[in-house]
Amino acid sequence: MKILVTGGAGFIGSNYIRYVLAKYPDIKVVNLDLLTYAGRMENIRDFIHDSRYKFIKGDIRDRKKVQQVMKEDFDAVINFAAETHVDRSILEADSFITTDVYGTYTLLENAKNCNVEKFVQISTDEVYGSTDKRSFKEIDSLQPSSPYSASKAAGDLIALAFYKTYDLPITVTRSSNNFGPYQHLEKLIPKMIARALQDKRLPVYGDGRQVRDWLYVMDNCEAIDTALWKGKPGEIYNIASGNEYQNIQIVKFILQTLKKPESLISFVPDRPGHDRRYSLDTSKIRNLGWRPEHVLKDALRETVEWYIRNKWWWRSLQADKFFQSDTSWLKRKHL
Ligand code: NAD
Ligand code: DAU
Repeated sequence: MKILVTGGAGFIGSNYIRYVLAKYPDIKVVNLDLLTYAGRMENIRDFIHDSRYKFIKGDIRDRKKVQQVMKEDFDAVINFAAETHVDRSILEADSFITTDVYGTYTLLENAKNCNVEKFVQISTDEVYGSTDKRSFKEIDSLQPSSPYSASKAAGDLIALAFYKTYDLPITVTRSSNNFGPYQHLEKLIPKMIARALQDKRLPVYGDGRQVRDWLYVMDNCEAIDTALWKGKPGEIYNIASGNEYQNIQIVKFILQTLKKPESLISFVPDRPGHDRRYSLDTSKIRNLGWRPEHVLKDALRETVEWYIRNKWWWRSLQADKFFQSDTSWLKRKHL
C-alpha cells in the first residue's frame, strides 16, 4: 500500500503520517509539502529516517512537479495541503485561493491520469458557515464566511465535480476544529497555552461565546483513515466529537490546568465575519464504525502538558505576528 500525503509537514498531516506508520507495517508514504511557515521539519523529525517514508519538497500548484511526483504509482492520495488560518485569509487571501483552490485542482487533474484508487480531499466544517441551533448534514448547502472557508469550499466542490465528471474516486472529509501536539501557535489552543505560560494577556475575540466542536487530532486521523478505506467514492463525511464549547470555556479550562489567573483574559475586538457556531451531524462517519476515542478534558490536559514539555518545538514560533498581537488590527484595517 503506497499513499501520497500532501501537506504532511503541517499539524494534522504530520500526525496522520505518524498514525499510519504505526498502524500499517507495510505502508509506504510519500509526503509532498512546500514547507510554508506552517510546514516544519520539526513536525516530521521523529519519522524522517523511517525507510517506509519519503519527503519531497514541492508546491501542489506546480503542475510539472505534481506530474513528476505522481509518476510513482499511488494507491491513494490524501490532500491536507492548504493555507489554513482564518485571520491570515482576512489580511491576505491570495495564497488561499491559489493553494486551496488551484492547488487542489492541480492534484485532481494529475490524479485523473493515474490509477489512484482513492483521493481524499480534506475539507472543513467551516464550508457550511454558522448555525444557531441545528447541526449540519453533508447534504446541506455551503455558505462559507471567510476567504479561507470560501477557498476550502471551492476545492471541496471541484473535487466532487471530478468524481461526477471523470469518475475520480473522491471522498471528502469535513471536520471540526482539531487540537493536539504540533499545532501552530497562531491557533486558539496553542496560542492560549503558550501565552499563559508566559503570563501574557490572552486575547479573546468579541464576547468569547463563539462555539466550536473540539476534536482531538488523533481521533480525526482515525476518522480520515476510516473514510479512506471504508468511505464510498463521491461521498462526504462530517467528522466531529460532539464536544461543543464556547471559546471562553476552553480558555478558562487552559488557565485552570496551568493554575494561572483568569485576569489574564482580555476581550478584544471581534474577528470580521466571525462564525458564531459550528455544529455537525456525524451519523454518516459513525455508520462506518468510527467513534472518537478521546475525552476532551483529558486530551486537552495532555495537550497542555505536551506544550510544556516541548518548548523547543514552539520557541521560534513566538516571533509570528499572529501569536504576538491580539489581531484587533485586522478589524481596523478592513472596515
Ligand atoms: P497546517 O497549516 O498546519 O498545515 C498545512 C500544510 O500544508 C503545511 O505543512 C504547509 O507547508 C503545506 N502547504 C501549504 N501550501 C502548500 C502548497 N501550495 N503546496 C504544498 N504544501 C503546502 O494545516 P492543518 O491544520 O494541519 O490542516 C490540514 C488540512 O486540514 C487543511 O486542508 C485544513 O483546511 C483542514 N482542516 C483543518 C482543521 C484544523 O482544525 N486544523 C479542521 C478541519 C479541516
Ligand atoms: O472548524 C475547522 C477550522 O478550525 C479549520 O478549518 C481551520 O483550518 C482552523 O484554523 C480552525 O478555524 P478557527 O477559526 O475556528 O480556529 P482558530 O484557532 O483560529 O480560532 C478558534 C476560535 O477562537 C475562533 O472562534 C476564533 C477564536 N480566537 C482565535 C484566536 C487565534 C480567539 O478568540 N482569539 C485568538 O487569539
